[in-house]
Amino acid sequence: MLSLVVDPMTGPLSGSVPLPADKSITHRALLLAAIADGESRIGASLLGADNLSTAGALRAMGVHIDEQSGAVTVRGNGLFGLRAPAGPIDCGNSGTTMRLLCGILAAQRFFVTLTGDASLSSRPMERVLKPLRLRGARAEGKIDPKRPGECTAPLHIGPLPEPHVLSTIEYEMPVSSAQVKSALLLSGLFSDGPTYVREPLLSRDHTERMLTALGVPLQTLGPMIELDPSVWSGSLPAFDVHIPGDLSAAAFLVAAAQIVPQSRVDVRNVGLNPTRSGFLDVLRDMGGAFEVEARGEQLGEPMGLVRASSSALVGARIGGESVARSIDEMPILAALAACASGITTVTDAAELRVKETDRLSAVVQVLRAFGVRCDETPDGLVIEGRAGEPLIAADVHSRGDHRIAMTAAILGLVADGKTRVQDANCIRTSFPKFVGTLRALGATISVEETA
Ligand code: S3P
Repeated sequence: MLSLVVDPMTGPLSGSVPLPADKSITHRALLLAAIADGESRIGASLLGADNLSTAGALRAMGVHIDEQSGAVTVRGNGLFGLRAPAGPIDCGNSGTTMRLLCGILAAQRFFVTLTGDASLSSRPMERVLKPLRLRGARAEGKIDPKRPGECTAPLHIGPLPEPHVLSTIEYEMPVSSAQVKSALLLSGLFSDGPTYVREPLLSRDHTERMLTALGVPLQTLGPMIELDPSVWSGSLPAFDVHIPGDLSAAAFLVAAAQIVPQSRVDVRNVGLNPTRSGFLDVLRDMGGAFEVEARGEQLGEPMGLVRASSSALVGARIGGESVARSIDEMPILAALAACASGITTVTDAAELRVKETDRLSAVVQVLRAFGVRCDETPDGLVIEGRAGEPLIAADVHSRGDHRIAMTAAILGLVADGKTRVQDANCIRTSFPKFVGTLRALGATISVEETA
């Protein structure tokens, strides 16, 4: 097991650093390139473990994928060119791999079993299987005895029964989820009628942007998205894309710059999709110091430079649509709240309980270890900021969750002694160069192998 040992900063963080490619956009680019016609080139530096799970799944179904120095080449098999895998497909820790694949697999004439690690195998899957069944797919999971009506991996999908085509669907999602929405839209490419999806609050719209950029007729009618294949050519063109940097990874660096005095950190090529950038809006409300310079777009995704510096943060009320737009950044926002003055409340965030771990309980456990007074509520957090008082150096366990591990490491930068983050291997899920990037900015972090 790997542990990180983080020294408290004695000076500022400073420098200009790149980011890993956006994990969500890379999953989608790999999947769409696999079912496109011809060879696509995806500019993405060093894929994290989750994206490698998607690439591995596609390879298992006969797609040629070549990963070399900062670019991935995918030879698309066309819309109907995937082949039955030799055995179950392991999605590792990646919920996005599993749920988005369901959308494509629902339309295949072969049978696939999807498995995952212990964390992924405990996550709710009925939310994606149910609407796929409603449009004619065969899709079953393992019944979850603890949650009536719920099921988990392993999932068994296909083969699509006669007449081998998915039907039209109009589906109102009970919970906002980009993964469920994307699975439905991807399955809509294989349907003989329109797909209509509506969600309570708009979740990240990378799939919509990428499909539109590739010529798929998508329309947004208020809160409803429509994909009508009758006005589509029926094939996806190969494409060339440079994936924007991951705002979810940037959030850790921008946060570190806020709390380490006199810091100045530039993060380059950050994806700035407004359905993802809630972190920056919440940070602004908390009095955070940063500037954004827009620098073009890729396949409909805006990107730019974020210049962050130290600030005196104040507590905030975080709820509603800003939670939907910053759901993955909630652990690091909680860490910022711990360093702010005043109380921060988070509401409407019950979904955090079904991420890689129960992130509401994990955040409370980590913050308390650093001496922060906080509580969890059924759908959120209450955090008493400790501005002016150093955090107490802690020894914490990540619970195998990459965002919890990185959150604890950032808090360690402003603690009163060395902080240990146990079980930190999981960071490679989304940010393989996290430690190197922080070291480049001036942090002292060592990596220890423990039994
Ligand atoms: C993701 C969607 C979100 C997010 C996850 C990535 C995606 O999950 O938390 O990390 O790439 O579509 P939900 O779809 O469950 O909201």
